[in-house]
Amino acid sequence: MSATLVCASCGAVLPPLSRRSSCACGGLLDAVQQPRETGRTLRARFDSRLRDGDRASQGSGVWRFRELLLPGRGSVLTHPEGRTPLFRRDSIARFVGHDELALKHEGHNPTGSFKDRGMTVAVTHALRSGASAVACASTGNTSASMAAYAAQAGLAAFVFVPAGWVATGKLAQALAYGARTLLVNADFDGCLALAREASERLGIALLNSINPWRIEGQKTIVFELLQQRGWEPPDWIVVPAGNLGNTAAFGKALGEARALGLLRRMPRLVAVQATGASPFYRSYRGGFAKRYRVRAETVATAIRIGDPASHDRAVRAIRETRGLVTAVSDREILEAKAVVDAAGIGCEPASAAAVAGARRLVRERVIRKGQSVVAVLTGHLLKDPGAVMDFHSRPGARRNPPVTIEPRLAEVERLLSRAGGRGGA
Ligand code: F0G
Repeated sequence: MSATLVCASCGAVLPPLSRRSSCACGGLLDAVQQPRETGRTLRARFDSRLRDGDRASQGSGVWRFRELLLPGRGSVLTHPEGRTPLFRRDSIARFVGHDELALKHEGHNPTGSFKDRGMTVAVTHALRSGASAVACASTGNTSASMAAYAAQAGLAAFVFVPAGWVATGKLAQALAYGARTLLVNADFDGCLALAREASERLGIALLNSINPWRIEGQKTIVFELLQQRGWEPPDWIVVPAGNLGNTAAFGKALGEARALGLLRRMPRLVAVQATGASPFYRSYRGGFAKRYRVRAETVATAIRIGDPASHDRAVRAIRETRGLVTAVSDREILEAKAVVDAAGIGCEPASAAAVAGARRLVRERVIRKGQSVVAVLTGHLLKDPGAVMDFHSRPGARRNPPVTIEPRLAEVERLLSRAGGRGGA
């Protein structure tokens, strides 16, 4: 296997062990993969690793696909991660109005979000290229993931997060795993600008998704879901979109899988934004003629991003998959989340945007009856307990508020009789 880094703006070529996370010209770097084997050979190898186990990947659902990730030999820093489930639930299918719906739950990764897939590759690369410290800006999940992998690797970790806008579970993780946590009086976009400047000036490896190796790791969400479906592509893949790293990674994965012959036909990619944080949707509606920056506002703090860094890469992903972009309101997000939660699966608000987006496209008859849809749940329910408590303490049809009682059987009986059928379960 081999790969080089190519600047998407000026075309400069860098060696894969370069410590730069972006080009000197300011453009983003893409890893260009040149696998030595055909898709058929690779597919057989990926399948045998899954079937028979594989020491080198140490049980990781990322490193199982290592020929398409990071060039060079050496040990890998894995938790392990990946191997996430593909769920089907009738109650969620009914809510979306579509039977052929599966949910790939990336919240089942070790730190509770898909970020671990990119992080295992980016931290392995940072170690191989001699870094001693790593940094990222984050709405929470990237910082939680980076903190965990940096702790395992023995690297110093610095996280830049928007003060007051990170969900409790995520902030708690960054602190617990020992990252130096900087609460910046700025939004995510301001945090990213500062983290970029700091890493550039202070020689710290930047592990945001502008780092090409993060994208390489996140491609494995797509590889793994294809493998779980016996390499039979779904018609649609739906993913929530904020900084657009994942949208870019999905497009790259699909493009490579198609070029290698791992895919018979191209699924269509859907990026779903929150209406209050939808610069990419706005750009899409204008045929991608213009790029927008907005002041972002949404209950889904993970995707509260107004100036997505991977805009250009994501445009390519949508175009190359004949995909589309949609936007859903906070109300739609919270309703979808309540349905996913009540199915016993659960996810954080940003993840529910994928389900709300699928529902919208079914209603708009863009997604047609019989077409297969995989929606990606990007983060775990427990990431944002505040959003759950808030939802269930407000009026609404799906609310399930707690009840305070005195320690008397009579009170329990009274409540059980009122709960009717539910109490008998
Ligand atoms: N879902 C979750 C749970 C996220 O944490 C993120 C991004 C996204 C979706 C959107 O993915 O940015 O690649 O388009 N979280 C980043 C972070 C920004 O800092 O944790 P994207």
